[in-house]
Amino acid sequence: MSVAEWKDLGSVETLKLKSLQEITIDRTKIALSYVNEKFFAISGVCNHAGGPLGNGRLDGEYIVCPWHNYKFHCGTGKGEPGFEEDQVPSYDLNERDGHLWINLNSATSRVKAPHPAHPLTRPIKRAPGALRVVGISTTSVDEANPRLSTSEYLLDVALTHAKSIANTETRMIRLSALQFRACEGYYSKNAHACTWPCSITQMDPEDEMEKVYEAMVHWADVILVSTPIRWGNASSLYYKMVERLNCVQNQITISNKQLIKNKTVGLIITGGQDNVQAVAGQLLGFFSEVGFTFPPFPFIAHSRGWTAEDMHRNVEQVIHSQELKESAKALVERAMHSAKALINAESPDLNTRAGRKAHRLDGASEATE
Ligand code: FES
Repeated sequence: MSVAEWKDLGSVETLKLKSLQEITIDRTKIALSYVNEKFFAISGVCNHAGGPLGNGRLDGEYIVCPWHNYKFHCGTGKGEPGFEEDQVPSYDLNERDGHLWINLNSATSRVKAPHPAHPLTRPIKRAPGALRVVGISTTSVDEANPRLSTSEYLLDVALTHAKSIANTETRMIRLSALQFRACEGYYSKNAHACTWPCSITQMDPEDEMEKVYEAMVHWADVILVSTPIRWGNASSLYYKMVERLNCVQNQITISNKQLIKNKTVGLIITGGQDNVQAVAGQLLGFFSEVGFTFPPFPFIAHSRGWTAEDMHRNVEQVIHSQELKESAKALVERAMHSAKALINAESPDLNTRAGRKAHRLDGASEATE
């Protein structure tokens, strides 16, 4: 039996002032709660991803983790009903001479119930076989009353061409047809709260961003992204997708783990008026930061020009332009050629701490029980 290790937590009257607080004593993080005029203490480190339970909130007798809302009983440390097998340590308390004391040798131990691993967490290893190209259209359309999108049209031309090349597999993802939530800012709570797979993907089986993660991280060698220009920027769905890809980049930040390797990206940008180069710059910057490689001339574009307001002619112009169709085909061929070279090169890993997070993470906290 372990020897009791009593430590003074401070004045009872002061500690009563907060219904829930985090206290660190001898490097042990405690979630101390005062519920129904009684003190309770459990570990301040969540079972899920190490979230600070003492900084969460109380829901009756349960402490709600501030990172992803898992709940643990404030006294027993057990998970909420249905999840009792998951348990964080609980601690004995004692009041003496107006002070609250805690026995740091926990009364109960941490138990992590076995959870099946999410399929996206499997090792990232290119499956042998055909070259694989995924097209991602970011155009917003009314799915019930579709219209022709010029960027998606050219993407389709490129994918159809890729498919006609022997030993190539293709897949099309239209963001407009997916139900997926906007990023809810887990990274803004703490870098470690932005997990891989994405926190939303882990919590919400209905969320369909998983299809993009699966294709981009595991399946494809070539990613072709198409976007219209909206007020000088890429489409809103493009940004919605990109915000959800923070978890991919964040793995470099917090774990030095690069999820995207030996993959190329090609971009198709069309707009009624202008700003092609600014949009391309945004997209190129983002995809470079998550680890993609670019073929020569990584984007193709079309714009009617600043003074053009005859948008009714735009679709017609694009679908009748042999040059644009040929350029879409050439783009995918360039991207495939570059991807093949990367796959065959088996180049050394020179990407340590690559990108804008080349320095160590400031303020990384070590979670302890
Ligand atoms: S719910 Fe606590 S870290 Fe995720």
